[in-house]
This record gives sequence, structure tokens and C-alpha cells, in this order.
Amino acid sequence: MTAIPILPDQDAIGRAALCLRDGGLVAFPTETVYGLGADATNDKAVARIFEAKGRPQFNPLISHVSGLDMASELGQFGTLAKELANRFWPGPLTLVVERRPTCPISLLLSAGLDTIALRMPDHPVAQGLIRRAQRPLAAPSANPSGGVSPTTAAHVAEGLGDRLDMILDGGPCRVGLESTVVSVTNGQARLLRPGTITRSDLEDVCGAITSPGEGPVEAPGMLASHYAPNCTVRLNAHTVAADEALLAFGTDGLVHAGPMENLSPSGDLLEAAANLFAALRRLDAQEPQGIAVMPIPQDGIGEAINDRLTRAAAPRP
Ligand code: TXA
Ligand code: MG
Repeated sequence: MTAIPILPDQDAIGRAALCLRDGGLVAFPTETVYGLGADATNDKAVARIFEAKGRPQFNPLISHVSGLDMASELGQFGTLAKELANRFWPGPLTLVVERRPTCPISLLLSAGLDTIALRMPDHPVAQGLIRRAQRPLAAPSANPSGGVSPTTAAHVAEGLGDRLDMILDGGPCRVGLESTVVSVTNGQARLLRPGTITRSDLEDVCGAITSPGEGPVEAPGMLASHYAPNCTVRLNAHTVAADEALLAFGTDGLVHAGPMENLSPSGDLLEAAANLFAALRRLDAQEPQGIAVMPIPQDGIGEAINDRLTRAAAPRP
């Protein structure tokens, strides 16, 4: 059976919530990317996520919650974690905190760690679904492991349709890049995955924050090769070959007769983030020799865009 994207009216959200409570897999929209959802407290359902994605089991998942109340029953929220949640939730920020001893979330989901990743999404369909299911929902991006994350329901259907029970279609995702992941343990915040909530947004709340790579390896999911299209990706391109596709950025784009996309002709990084994954998919679909990517500035949201592009360009396993 292949799941077809459906309109997320109240009736569909109700049916999806029942399906989740029954151990089913439901893809749903969030403001960042589409999630492949399951009941986070159900080991079997969580195992189905790993199976559907073909995901390495050591890579722990995020649980999506209805708010700080639900989150606080699952994880330990000290002053700093609370401040971050109050400032950025609902929104594209995931907080990694210590599990409470009574936390009902599947141990498989946190891959043996004594911490859990929690996020309150800023999307009415995701929020409605969590409320109706009355469960935290495990949801990695709804794509086969290692591939480009989905920002439309059609992307989800293409990659995983035959392995899902339902797909809720909420239109294109507003943010387009996965959430910023920050761990807050022992009163210290560490940036584990950059996102559109930037380092400086976080530093306004926490003071100086350490980066991925600076501390111990804390986000086992940060694999070097990820977000990879089928063809190769070449970064910081100042030239483009005839048989390549071009991923441009800004006004003084390269001239190219072959396939090309401009992430943001006006040089707006927020717009570029929202367009990134869909543009990579459209170029890849034309089966070029490779994709040449023009330089993207590293400031603000550029850090997250360059993080995803670097992984897309990394040698494949
Ligand atoms: O925007 C998003 O965050 C999307 C949407 C669907 O909400 N979800 C998402 O989930 O990207 P996922 O499971 O693909 O990303 C989980 C990230 C990985 O980098 C993983 O290693 C990290 O969070 N993570 C999860 N649990 C962790 C933990 N206990 N400690 C450290 N990192 C953790
Ligand atoms: Mg992913």
C-alpha cells in the first residue's frame, strides 16, 4: 500500500492521531521539514521508524511535545533550559536534556543515551496531532536515511510513501532546514546542530556557546555524509562546467546554460534556507554530472546552510 498525501482537516488529524496511538507511522508537516512520526513511548512504533528510514540505530530521534508542561514530564528542565524553551518555543529549537527517571519515552529512541531531545513545533497541524494523540511524537525528517530532507508532502511520498500509514499535507515548510539542536546539561548550553535559530540568537539568552566539534561528540546523528542527492556536490564554485547543474546564490550569479536554481536572487539567507532542499532535489532530478554550489556567506543562518551543504558534499559511505 502506498500512502497518498491528504489534506489535514480536523477529521484527518483525528484519524492520524488514532493511527499513531495504534503504533502507526504518520508523516506530518512542521515549520522546519516534514517529520516521520510515531508514538515516542511505543518501542515497536519507534523501531518501525528506524526500519522505514533505513537509519543507523545509534542515531537518536527527537520527540515532539505540546509544550513545556509535557516536556518537563519527560526531561529535566533547569533554569537555562526553561529560559531557552520560553524564548524559542514553539519554534525550530530542539533541547537535549537529561531524561527523568520516570520518562516513558522508548529507550530505543534515545539510542542508549541518558538524555533526550525535545522540541515544540510551530505548526498547527503538528501541534493538533500531538494534542489529539496525547503522546510525545518521535519524528526524524521523513526521508530515507542520508538523503535530502523533505519540505513538501510530495517529497515524502516519493521517498517513503510505500512505508507509511498516512501523510498529512500541510504545503511547503516555512523554514526548510531542520531545527537548531542545543544540549543543556549541567547548566551549560552546547550547539550540536546549527539551524535558523542562530548562534547569536542563542547567545542572547545563554552567553557564549560552544560549537559542534569543540566538546565531546554529543550528537551521534551528525554524520559526515547526510542530505546527499544522487549526484556529487561541489562547494564554493566560482565556475561551472557544461555538464554540471548550478546552485546559485545572490545577484552576481554565474551564467549557465544548463540546469540552475538560485536559492535567493536578493541574497536573503532566510529565503535560501527555505529553498535549499527543494532546489537540490529539482537539480538532482535532471541527472547532472554534479551540482556546483556558489559560496554562501557563513554569518547568521549561513552557518546552518553551509553545515547541510558540507554534509551533502562529503564523501559517501
Ligand atoms: O526540524 C527538525 O528537528 C526535524 C523535524 C521533523 O522536527 N526533525 C529532525 O529529527 O531533524 P532528527 O531525528 O532527524 O534529528 C535528530 C538530531 C540528530 O542530529 C541527533 O543526533 C540529535 O538530534 N539528537 C537526538 N537525540 C539526542 C541526544 N539525546 N543527544 C544528542 N543529540 C541528540
Ligand atoms: Mg534527517
